[in-house]
Amino acid sequence: MKSIVVLISGRGSNLEAILKARLPVKIAAVVSNNPRAKGLSIAKAHGIETLVLDYKQFAGRAAFDAELASRIAAFKPDLIALAGFMLILGDSFVKRFAGRVINIHPSLLPAFPGLDTHAKALRAGVKIHGCTVHFVTSELDHGPIIVQAAVPVLEADDSETLAARVLEQEHRIYPQAIRWFAENRLVIENQCVRVMGAEAMDRALLSPGVDE
Ligand code: GRF
Repeated sequence: MKSIVVLISGRGSNLEAILKARLPVKIAAVVSNNPRAKGLSIAKAHGIETLVLDYKQFAGRAAFDAELASRIAAFKPDLIALAGFMLILGDSFVKRFAGRVINIHPSLLPAFPGLDTHAKALRAGVKIHGCTVHFVTSELDHGPIIVQAAVPVLEADDSETLAARVLEQEHRIYPQAIRWFAENRLVIENQCVRVMGAEAMDRALLSPGVDE
């Protein structure tokens, strides 16, 4: 069974979705850079080992990254899943675990990398928004895309209502992506991911809906 380490910084709702999905993986540990992350209690409630590394206690980011990498490596993970981990991982970390780190981002990448994605989507006036699970590379919020889910942007939306609609989809696609990884179904070819044996849905999401 593949082993995974989940990195969090806060609420932990994606972590909870991963745990509830009862995936065929061993969650070796949940690691947080934030001692007050709510997700830590979710992990403990599931009997999962937790580790807190507060970067403020380190001489600098390089020292923090090195310690983070070696503590994570000690769990011998096949996969590292970033689930609301709010620090940007340094190059050496990303290179050390290349092809084994995935992230969930609350937009349809490559649109809206970085923070405040829902406000950015509303400002841009897009009609369809969503979320992306992707492999992590040195470039922030880039990297081969595994799966995306799209939702309509409604006229009455504000950042909160839009975030809630997207989050519901995050909780579907992140466990799904991890399941595919566990089943060895993800193949990266020319910076693109092929999901072996997955059928694309041949249905369009139109927003606003059109009169037929
Ligand atoms: C999610 O919206 C995720 O896409 C982003 O940070 C948020 C984390 O939420 N990277 P949670 O901690 O999983 O509830």
